[in-house]
Amino acid sequence: MSGYVGNFTAKIRKKARYVDPTVCNACGECVKVCPVTRPDGFQMGLSSRKAIYIPFPQAVPCSYVLNMDDCLGNNPIACGKCSDVCEKEAINYDDADEIIVREIGAVVVAIGLDVYDPTEMDEYGYTRFDNVITSMEFERLICAGGPTAGHFVRPRDRMRPKRIGFIQCVGSRNPKIGRPYCSNICCMNTIKDCLLLADHYPDVENTVFYQDIRASGKSFEDMYQRSKEAGSRYIRGLPGDVEEDAETGNLTVTVENTTTGKLERHEFDMLVLSVGVQPPKGMGKIAGMLTLSRTSDGFFMESHPKLKPVDAPTRGVYFAGFCESPKDIKDSVCQAGAAASRAGALLNAGQIQIEAITSRIDEQACSACGLCAKVCPYGAIVWSKGEPAVVVEAACAGCGACGATCLFGAITMRHFTDEQLMAQVRAILADKPQDKVFCFACNWCSYAGGDMAGISRIQYPASNRVVRTMCSARVSEEMVIEAFRCGAPVVLVSGCHYADCHYINANRQTVKRMQRLWDQLEKAGIRPERLQLEWISAAEGQKFAKVMRQMEELRKTVTLEEIEYARDALKPKPKKRAKNGRKKSAAVAT
Ligand code: FES
Repeated sequence: MSGYVGNFTAKIRKKARYVDPTVCNACGECVKVCPVTRPDGFQMGLSSRKAIYIPFPQAVPCSYVLNMDDCLGNNPIACGKCSDVCEKEAINYDDADEIIVREIGAVVVAIGLDVYDPTEMDEYGYTRFDNVITSMEFERLICAGGPTAGHFVRPRDRMRPKRIGFIQCVGSRNPKIGRPYCSNICCMNTIKDCLLLADHYPDVENTVFYQDIRASGKSFEDMYQRSKEAGSRYIRGLPGDVEEDAETGNLTVTVENTTTGKLERHEFDMLVLSVGVQPPKGMGKIAGMLTLSRTSDGFFMESHPKLKPVDAPTRGVYFAGFCESPKDIKDSVCQAGAAASRAGALLNAGQIQIEAITSRIDEQACSACGLCAKVCPYGAIVWSKGEPAVVVEAACAGCGACGATCLFGAITMRHFTDEQLMAQVRAILADKPQDKVFCFACNWCSYAGGDMAGISRIQYPASNRVVRTMCSARVSEEMVIEAFRCGAPVVLVSGCHYADCHYINANRQTVKRMQRLWDQLEKAGIRPERLQLEWISAAEGQKFAKVMRQMEELRKTVTLEEIEYARDALKPKPKKRAKNGRKKSAAVAT
């Protein structure tokens, strides 16, 4: 993917099928003669398939596909049996992947999910005991289109189990394995499984071990109660250990029942691990292609959790389904509808409204160094060696990271120009600077955190003075230095929490810049702690007040001599000139 809203270019690899779907009538003669047998991935490896196969029963088109990696010796000439028996001559061993290029206006990201692999949670014996299966394997075993045609049997002896245990939250709500989030769907999936078993086999005893049952959707509680009425037993507590009787294959779990406070042992014929879900592999690649950001859990971050829940931070990109957060089918369908509507509205409008706060580059002043293009989280700056950079305004979101990075004053951030921000710095510190804590706060989180402190009537020292920028990444080194030159005892730069920047990951630039500033202050003999960096979210009014109290305490430790020393040590030096010799012009405020 490349480009920007309204002008994306997608390159799609269409994989070779080696069977022409327009000719193949799915007679299945090829399957009968194929000598290669492989585990069937769709059936979770519980049955096998041939090298030529229909990927799954409802596949569209319903025709065969040949997996060249499995085909004998990768040399069909060595075998060629499928081709010999195909009366329709649908098989083409010379088929090749095709690259299709499409111009597109909007993108819906709906890449689904991966299921947690419980191999690492060995206390449940998934790798050791045949009769421990995952909820996905359960789905295949109970499905009429599954490997047993819907006859529920246990893998070890193919006998029908009478006592089935379900263990919830396997791979969910577990920070130790890096998955602190609730997978959202597992409780209801297990309740559904219990009802299914009760329907098919009324004599089966189901026992569910859980931490909490989260049945918060429409009619979900009703379903939960029905499963209890149908005989399913729910025990609050997760087993700590599973043992197998080597002779019978039965499994005994030891669990602390947290309702009774007693240690219990339960024997089962079969155990089902209710596995969580996780972001699919390859998300990082898609994030890179579409300049998307990810939460600490690995899901894609939406533009705004309340106001733009289906929009990506990159304009023209929308999310549907699990890639944004764990959700069930109903929520995924709702989000897909919303994403399609948002994309449709964008395309039907024929034109888009862009942010008023965008950057512009003065090409006379631009040295063509390309630094601005490197720091732009949206890829909105087009630059090629030796050529002045150009801002694609449709893609620019106005974080200001480029403006703060440009060493040549070539970038003007509309409505937050260097001149405007510097004027605020100087005006605030013009009178009694030694009594003030100077703060840069980003619009979306820290400044809103200050508002929250205000509307919550939380008291904090009146010494702080705040300059608002759209993102903490807009605060340039020069602005911080200027504040010290003007006599600020303490300068605080504050922004959204690290993974929560509203401009994808622009605040990474803030961190890098702060690191450079701390080094610079230290070299100049100025206490680096006089410059502080804090992440404060919009909901953290308490934290805002606490930080301000800490800053006030810090301010009191700064002497007048230190302030004077910093003024002197940070006196301006002659400015750099553009490498290409272009005359440097003042940035133009619009
Ligand atoms: Fe708050 Fe970037 S928007 S730090």
